[in-house]
Amino acid sequence: MNPRAELRVLFNRREIEAAVRRLASEISQDYRNKNPVLLGILRGSFVFLADLIRHLDFPLEVDFIELSSYGSSTQTSGKIKVVKKLETPVRDHDVLIVEDIVDTGLTTAFLIKYLKRQKPASVRLCALTDKPSRREVPVKIDYIGFTVPNKFLVGYGLDANQKFRNLPDICYFEGEA
Ligand code: PRP
Repeated sequence: MNPRAELRVLFNRREIEAAVRRLASEISQDYRNKNPVLLGILRGSFVFLADLIRHLDFPLEVDFIELSSYGSSTQTSGKIKVVKKLETPVRDHDVLIVEDIVDTGLTTAFLIKYLKRQKPASVRLCALTDKPSRREVPVKIDYIGFTVPNKFLVGYGLDANQKFRNLPDICYFEGEA
């Protein structure tokens, strides 16, 4: 990462809050009577998931799965590994995957296939950010917060080498290729 690159805000906390409320409203219409399992992908989704569920006023469960694709680099290795399995039996349950970003699509495409082998009633995907310019495999995103440009994003759970997840805004580095 270029040490002289400057951190700029792409979406500030108020814009994020508005997007989270809109997504929660869409999700509520579809899941109100379904007792869904909201499945966060560690680690990036934890901030978004924590905010999202506080706008959902119906019964639901929360679980996490940890997948690894990037390691410590900013380039995807293309190989997805399950680092931590989910604990909830999802057979016959409606599962909503909650993700911070869909970039190449490799992580979510892998996860959707992985979950479908466990015979859930349904699997859908909610992504706070979608970077379609980077897609390598097709992924259907059912609920999208923001469509984002091809910039390396940090903040609100998103990291660069495990740092910056704590920024309240979604930011990018100006001057970074
Ligand atoms: C990031 C992000 C997504 C994935 C998206 O995770 O949180 O899970 O990459 O990329 P893709 O669409 O190209 O697969 P990362 O592996 O960096 O781990 P993290 O969640 O711990 O930040």
